[in-house]
Amino acid sequence: MALKKAPPATLVIFGGTGDLARRLLVPAIANLCEDGLVGEDLQIIGIGSREGTDEDLRAGLDEFTPKDECWSRLRGQISYLRGDFTQAQLFEDLTKTLGKAGNVVFYLATPALFFGPIIESLAKAGLMEEQNGAFRRVAVEKPFGHDLASAHALNEQILNVISEQQIYRIDHFLGKETVQNIMVARFANPWLEAVWNNRYIDSVQITAAETVDVGTRGAFYDATGALRDMVPNHLFQLLAMVGMEPPNDLSADSIRTEKAKVLVAVREPTPAEAKADGVRGQYAGYRKTADVSPKSEVETYVALKLWVDSWRWAGVPFYLRTGKALKARDTEIVVTFKPVPLALFRDTPVAHMPPNRLVLQLQPDEAIDLDFMVKKPGPKMQATPVTLDFKYADKFKIGGRTGYETLLYDMMMGDQTLFQRADQIEAGWAAVQPFLDVWGKGKGKVETYKKGSDGPEGAAELLERDGRQWHEIGA
Ligand code: BG6
Repeated sequence: MALKKAPPATLVIFGGTGDLARRLLVPAIANLCEDGLVGEDLQIIGIGSREGTDEDLRAGLDEFTPKDECWSRLRGQISYLRGDFTQAQLFEDLTKTLGKAGNVVFYLATPALFFGPIIESLAKAGLMEEQNGAFRRVAVEKPFGHDLASAHALNEQILNVISEQQIYRIDHFLGKETVQNIMVARFANPWLEAVWNNRYIDSVQITAAETVDVGTRGAFYDATGALRDMVPNHLFQLLAMVGMEPPNDLSADSIRTEKAKVLVAVREPTPAEAKADGVRGQYAGYRKTADVSPKSEVETYVALKLWVDSWRWAGVPFYLRTGKALKARDTEIVVTFKPVPLALFRDTPVAHMPPNRLVLQLQPDEAIDLDFMVKKPGPKMQATPVTLDFKYADKFKIGGRTGYETLLYDMMMGDQTLFQRADQIEAGWAAVQPFLDVWGKGKGKVETYKKGSDGPEGAAELLERDGRQWHEIGA
């Protein structure tokens, strides 16, 4: 079924001259234009703090957009508004610029400290009022809060002036095709869902490894660290997709309710468990990064062992890790199945009987691999492992997209499925808060690891203690 074109709307981007708008948002709109999903009835207003003209903004956006007919038309629908996010004047000017505009999406591509104040100012100026059936929606990027208390306070501040149906909390991992596919892989394939539980699954590993270091983001990163930057948001979205129960239907709230339930079920560790089950690493040389404290104890790598206390997952450890400056870029979910109950094939030494394993390779080289056993041809009855490998690139064209196409389209269509609800956000923070608390008290030292390595040794030990090993990064 062909997708419907989005309704006429105005997209107002706070931070319209910034990197996010230039590299991801506007190119995604250009792709939607190519697909015929947005057209001449989409107006874009970019807000920035510098002096500039419409043409300056458009020229700045040219760099990352396709040079085609669609973009040359879309360009003409873009205008610039100069203003200071903290001043009432901007909201007066915006009210004038929007005039009688009906549907509006306000996209806050700004530092997180502006989220609350901008939404309050929009509401105060009457710009969030939905009249005559028109919608008024706000999208916020991450980080949503700094810990459980601040995330809760931000939710309160926002929900005090607008409704949950008007707020779109972005987690860009949910814009990735391979992440959205997790639900299809699970719920459209009965053989897989039949074994998707603690009777057959031994453990789950979720990895987001990056080769890039902190680069020019020292100031942000040194106040944030790997755990806050990646775990309660991106990695927990993956955990929720793996762990959720089948929703009753595909409505946004049914899906979000099932995901929130998994996050609520993540056990909050005691301080002793948090100390034992969390490993922090920092790559050598991090402290020399611009805007990073020379004595920084902030982690650029984190590994956690978590438990999901639900009927389906009781007893199955979830191992999560993420880090910068590692040996390969690799975002994957590895599901390891339990061994067979009886070793029938005595001629196959136990060491050569690796467990069945499903690897969801989310990026790069998007793929799904299933490791299983077959008989090795020959007179002896010997079992040997082989892999069924499906590569997205062999079947589909999924490159050339920024990952924001679906998110922006869904915002205009009013579909909140891929956006985080307040309870999901807070459940995520609640689950990691005990780790933040013990580390905040100076417990759980940061281990140094070499750039281009697998990360700190403590991470390997975390699994070895349980008789397990990480799937090799980049393999
Ligand atoms: C961002 C983090 O949210 O996600 C970055 O702030 C990280 O530190 C990035 O590099 C990873 O996203 P992706 O899509 O490149 O895997």
